[in-house]
Amino acid sequence: MIVMVHGPSALRCLLALVMGVTMTCPLRDALAVTSDASPELIKRGAYLAKAADCAGCHTALPKDRDPLPKSLAGGQAVNSPFGTIWSTNITPDPQHGIGKYTYQDFARALREGVAPGGKRLYPAMPYPSFSKIADDDMRALYAYFMHGVRPVAESAPETRLPFPFNQRWGLYFWDLAFAPGKPFSADAQHDAQWNRGAYLVQSLGHCGACHTPRGPAFNELGYTDESSRYLTGGTNDHWYAPILRSTAGAGLGRLSAQDVAAFLKTGHGGGFVAFGSMVQVVEDSTQYLSEADLLAIASYLKSLPASGRGGTFHADAQAARQAMTSLRTGDVERPGAGLYESACARCHRSDGAGVAQKYPRLAGNPAVLAEKPDSLVRLVLEGGHAPSTSYGPLPKEMPAFGSRLTDTEVARVLTYVRTAWGNDALPVTTRDVQNMRKQLASP
Ligand code: HEC
Ligand code: HEC
Ligand code: HEC
Repeated sequence: MIVMVHGPSALRCLLALVMGVTMTCPLRDALAVTSDASPELIKRGAYLAKAADCAGCHTALPKDRDPLPKSLAGGQAVNSPFGTIWSTNITPDPQHGIGKYTYQDFARALREGVAPGGKRLYPAMPYPSFSKIADDDMRALYAYFMHGVRPVAESAPETRLPFPFNQRWGLYFWDLAFAPGKPFSADAQHDAQWNRGAYLVQSLGHCGACHTPRGPAFNELGYTDESSRYLTGGTNDHWYAPILRSTAGAGLGRLSAQDVAAFLKTGHGGGFVAFGSMVQVVEDSTQYLSEADLLAIASYLKSLPASGRGGTFHADAQAARQAMTSLRTGDVERPGAGLYESACARCHRSDGAGVAQKYPRLAGNPAVLAEKPDSLVRLVLEGGHAPSTSYGPLPKEMPAFGSRLTDTEVARVLTYVRTAWGNDALPVTTRDVQNMRKQLASP
């Protein structure tokens, strides 16, 4: 009897088996229907997909027509300096998604940035970090994407970058020069918790994609802690992501590991609140991680030797008292102090201490002391709201001041914030604000 059964080969094998037809089923396919798709493996894959924030880039925000986001169906614009790169449909739909991917195809796309047919992916997909994903985790991810994700029969818009960036073959040389493609290697000098944190940060978490500075070719200046530039702060999409090392002023030096873990779980930690592009990271990814994994990440980051530039903080009473007196006596000689009092103090308080679980503390806030003021300028112009998470407080809003304050006023109030209450960071200039307005107007 000859039966033609179409569909994925694993299904064909299963059907052949059920119908008593003899047919050769390769070992890989046999595994796919047994151990490779066990509910536990799929569940673990789902957790790892959260840790890697696949949905953060591959799920488009809902349009008016469809009120629900089509999970993992792509079509989200990822802004790069070369133009808009559209993320692709990675649901198991065989036509529009990755349903035809073998395990090898999947692992190669994630680790090397090469899709089936040899199509080279733009590094907007963080494959230089994903090259460090362990085999076990890669198999769990594959099981999840093939069996735990609902197929969506819809294609994402095609990416059309201007010449020469539309020549994908050229990425071969980029990959050769900049994508290390090295697996993660555990460091025997550190314990299991440290290594777990290092693994999550360097591979799935791809924290360096935002927090590591980039070179002229958009390449991250280091993918592991062997580089002293690793996680010393970077700018993407006009958001500056600060230093994630033990640096005291503009880094995590004065936060406890518990504060950092809480920040990742709820968007609130040490009195600081996630904002800008970090909001989405907390909402889509880190809030789902286990306490143990978050503490591992936090302790790893805090173990990294201080490096990177930025302002400092001196909690010495005198600086704080001076700022307070100048506010109370209406002495507005410090430009920006009066503006701060009228526009900002009702939430962030005159002493810059904020309100716990509501409004962030600005005194000693590493993001406020950052070397580059981009995130601060963008936030004050556009406003924002704190992450909304399962365990965190209800998110509060920061109003937009773009139409209420002039460029000079924004520069003055932020310069005040960067130098009051013991904060000591470089001033923000009118030019900084002008430039940011221009960049935001033409993305
Ligand atoms: C920071 C954003 C980002 C994250 C996070 C991300 N991706 Fe992507 N991914 C992209 C973009 C953008 C593309 C399209 C790249 C291109 O067109 O060259 C892409 C392409 C892909 C492709 C190639 C599809 C094809 O056939 O062309 C696969 C597979 C893929 N991603 C899987 C994943 C998985 C699985 C995860 C999580 C483990 C993930 N991605 C996380 C941005 C991201
Ligand atoms: C899409 C870009 C992006 C990615 C990816 C990203 N971050 Fe961030 N992160 C930011 C930005 C922007 C800020 C500054 C705003 C703020 O403080 O919330 C930030 C702030 C932070 C802060 C607060 C730092 C401070 O000094 O106040 C921590 C901690 C942090 N990120 C940890 C992480 C970890 C851990 C990862 C990886 C799991 C990660 N981030 C991935 C963009 C990103
Ligand atoms: C109505 C209350 C409110 C007012 C008024 C307000 N803010 Fe905010 N601010 C917030 C909230 C809420 C956040 C957290 C925003 C987020 O997560 O996106 C925030 C965040 C910030 C941050 C980032 C710090 C961090 O850790 O999140 C800075 C800097 C900041 N505000 C400065 C200012 C300045 C300067 C003014 C006055 C021009 C101002 N704010 C006025 C509520 C306010």
